[in-house]
Amino acid sequence: MNGLVENTKATLERIAAGFSPAVFASSLAAEDMVLTDMILRAKLPIAIFTLETGRLHKETLGVLDRIRDTYDYEVKLYRPQQAAVDAYVQQNGLNAFYDSVEMRKECCRIRKVEPLKRALAGNKAWITGQRRAQSTTRVDLAVQEDDAAHGMVKFNPLADWSEEDVWNYIRDNQVPYNPLHDKGYPSIGCEPCTRAIQPGEDVRAGRWWWENADTKECGLHVVDGKLVRIKSVAA
Ligand code: ADX
Ligand code: SF4
Repeated sequence: MNGLVENTKATLERIAAGFSPAVFASSLAAEDMVLTDMILRAKLPIAIFTLETGRLHKETLGVLDRIRDTYDYEVKLYRPQQAAVDAYVQQNGLNAFYDSVEMRKECCRIRKVEPLKRALAGNKAWITGQRRAQSTTRVDLAVQEDDAAHGMVKFNPLADWSEEDVWNYIRDNQVPYNPLHDKGYPSIGCEPCTRAIQPGEDVRAGRWWWENADTKECGLHVVDGKLVRIKSVAA
């Protein structure tokens, strides 16, 4: 087994041992399935949750069944507050996120950022499946960060992984994954804000494709510029 995999497993063990209670935010995409496999096979005491925005693809929701079948594990779902969703839709329409970056960020705030706050409350650390190579907004990503906005430590154990590393792990370990990945979707978010890409396009080109590359974050990972990058963390 290569060093990358071993290092990542060691990072997860270190989080479980030293930062309990810790939670893992899973979007149910390929990267997150790698971490899900590592956490559940090693039976680490790290709870896994998904922000169920109400706008996910049926294929993405189907991954919850695959996780149940494969690992006998129930991913915890956090949903947006219905009153906030209703008010947004009533005032702006169901798909107002296409109208402006502000409207899009407000939808993400209601459907993802606020539920994330509830999901993280009471924990010492949270874990994501972000990779440095995914986006221009992630080039400085570190394995461990001080997330001042949420008042806890944030880990990105796959920060150093390439897309190929992710798929090698999935193949080698027969990890279940979202079938949309085989249909031109390397990056998957909400259904109306994600589309397939053409060969050679950037992996996140299908996310909020009508916006510029540098606005394409939903607020889960850049909160008021309060993330402090910690570069020097060994596994
Ligand atoms: S996003 O910020 O643009 O939506 P992306 O889809 O690349 O993020 O996912 C990056 C990481 O954010 C995932 O690996 C996961 O940790 C977290 N994440 C994104 N969407 C969700 C979701 N719906 N539920 C839980 N975690 C999520
Ligand atoms: Fe709303 Fe699109 Fe953000 Fe999902 S990704 S919360 S549908 S704006």
